[in-house]
Amino acid sequence: MSENAWVRMTQADPGHSAAYVQRFRDLAAGGTDIVGEARLVDAMLPRGARVLDAGCGPGRVGGYLASVGHDVVGVDVDPVLVAAAEQDHPGARWLVGDLAELDLPDRFDVVVCAGNVVTFLSTSTRVEVLRRFRAHLVAGGRAVVGFGAGRDYAFDAFLADAGTAGLEPDVLLSTWHLHPFTATSDFLVAVLRAG
Ligand SMILES: C[S@@+](CC[C@H](N)C(=O)[O-])C[C@H]1O[C@@H](n2cnc3c(N)ncnc32)[C@H](O)[C@@H]1O
Repeated sequence: MSENAWVRMTQADPGHSAAYVQRFRDLAAGGTDIVGEARLVDAMLPRGARVLDAGCGPGRVGGYLASVGHDVVGVDVDPVLVAAAEQDHPGARWLVGDLAELDLPDRFDVVVCAGNVVTFLSTSTRVEVLRRFRAHLVAGGRAVVGFGAGRDYAFDAFLADAGTAGLEPDVLLSTWHLHPFTATSDFLVAVLRAG
């Protein structure tokens, strides 16, 4: 059984990924705003920037960024979600892969990692995944990582891991809508630069 919590969930429930895809398709069809993270990332970039959507799932973040003119690659370990991303967002490149083994020829202006992805990683791969984010950034590029509290990855432990991986905080927020991060925040959006 995998130590990766997402893989474990899909092994325990073979319908999990399809249900996840459908949930977001339904939300989008019902008019719910599901691209708040992507709008923040768009505001950080000039037109036509190179973006890696790390743990892209069905592509809701990278798909939006591709639709507004960025050059997007999405990587996710779950082939069902990647197939949905290909179907729903043909304007980007979607790849099945483990972020702990990420080794692309591309370099990116931003690596975006939204939707609690880092909390699903095997603990033993956390620093390696962050190292690979750093290695895939252009000089001056940034990684943006968002996740919630109460998911067995304390914010200070994450920031320490980021430091070990050579990523230093530029801006810390508590939402994707630019609210500042404080000692009592229950969500972290960390904008990190190569140190
Ligand atoms: C809650 S989903 C979020 C998906 C997407 N980022 C979003 O916000 O819509 C978490 C995602 O992390 C992915 N993931 C977890 N561990 C991963 C790994 N080691 N490599 C690649 N993807 C991973 C899962 O497959 C899943 O798609």
